[in-house]
Amino acid sequence: MTEDRNQEEEKKVSGPQLQKLAINFLVRFYIVFKILRLYAENNELLQEQTGLLYQNLQELKAASPEINFKIKRESIFFNQSRLKFSLANYPIFKFLLEEFRKREIGLLSLEPDISREELLTAVNILCLKRTSSTPFEDIVSELTQQGMEKVRLEKLEASEKLPSPERSAARLFFLSILHLREVSERNKENEQIKLNTTRRLIQSIFNHLVDNESFLLGLTTIKNHDEYTLNHSVNVSLLAVALGRRLGLSRAELVDLGLAAFFHDLGKIETPLEILNKPGQLTEDERKIMELHPHQGAEKLVQLRDFRRLPVSAIHVAMEHHIKEDLTGYPRFRIKHDLNLYSRIVKVCDFFDAITTKRVYRKKTFTRAEALSLMLENIGTEFNPVILKTFVQMMGLFPVGSLVLLNTGEIGLVVENNQEARFLLRPRVKIIVNSQGQKVDGEVVDLTEVDPQTKKFRRTIVKEINPEDYGLEVPDYFLAQAM
Ligand SMILES: [Fe+2]
Ligand SMILES: [Fe+2]
Repeated sequence: MTEDRNQEEEKKVSGPQLQKLAINFLVRFYIVFKILRLYAENNELLQEQTGLLYQNLQELKAASPEINFKIKRESIFFNQSRLKFSLANYPIFKFLLEEFRKREIGLLSLEPDISREELLTAVNILCLKRTSSTPFEDIVSELTQQGMEKVRLEKLEASEKLPSPERSAARLFFLSILHLREVSERNKENEQIKLNTTRRLIQSIFNHLVDNESFLLGLTTIKNHDEYTLNHSVNVSLLAVALGRRLGLSRAELVDLGLAAFFHDLGKIETPLEILNKPGQLTEDERKIMELHPHQGAEKLVQLRDFRRLPVSAIHVAMEHHIKEDLTGYPRFRIKHDLNLYSRIVKVCDFFDAITTKRVYRKKTFTRAEALSLMLENIGTEFNPVILKTFVQMMGLFPVGSLVLLNTGEIGLVVENNQEARFLLRPRVKIIVNSQGQKVDGEVVDLTEVDPQTKKFRRTIVKEINPEDYGLEVPDYFLAQAM
């Protein structure tokens, strides 16, 4: 008997109509969530959207006596049925999944007779950003305090907690460096290189990029001076895949591009370290040796036993990444030919990573924003205009990893750019120096946040600052998340 009832219920809740109603409710929930971050409770837009959320709830209630949203692995369930999100709604689903996880909420259950006011209060408590180590307990206690008996939560089961995407992205980053070191060593000994491993690494980089571009771009602030070429190659590969994705390349093309970028400086294995790390200017002869590395790199790639598995563009990129858009640069070809698209992409990323890295022979290390502005001065002559513009757009006016002075006197580290054009100057930043000038492990704040009383932005960027001038170590923040 019970089984029959279960089956009946399941049939009822798995109908496509009910799916649609449940998804509509979540999409509206997402909108309210987003608005709550920007406006006070009495805001008109918020009132309107909460009204619609309440309406969605009424429709849902009419179709199903129970309203339970459950997080299970990579899915959200409504009662017993897994919600299937369309491609258009996918980012919303990802967002909600992540926000529920952050708060350790495994189940959200609403009593059907919850009132509109109660719903708004509950959503407010649920959406509030939590920085404590016990977000779930905090939410439950606030709900109890407010007498919210019509909202029931269950904690996410421990097995449902995935390792943070940041941690696995950072692990991947270091794995890539280790792998490239092995490749270089094997290459010196003329041993076989595991191109399959390289390919798999690049594929994982791609997967992480889709979920968390900002954090991955932040990882490129990590500069290992002892193993400059290795670290640099991984950074360039990461930036190139991100840029290629923005340019609309397919997944397969991006993996080829990532591989090509990964090996772009392979020829430097042949360059003597005294030349690579020489402080000050190179002599004419030294410069000539240095400029051999594109050619040497291409040769090494051709000689690989696994050569056939390598995209041909990898040879182009090794050969052409120091040739400028106007075909000056090195090596010089007697016959002028068009540059490979991947070479042009790698050129932009290579240049950016190089000048933002402190090197003994370079007097000035550029901040990330300064680097972009310098590069824009050479648009068309050194860099392809479309590719450079897309790169600048991807990095934002204050690229992830930049340090900014705020009007509150605080110093923040840019951790995520705002994709909305009107908020280009309002990224999300982590406070690392408070208004008293003390270094702190502060919270991440959204510069689009408005003070409900004054109706003004809480914080605004005054200017970008150079970490070197303040003795601040930017990579530490990104590394800290990898531990
Ligand atoms: Fe190079
Ligand atoms: Fe390079």
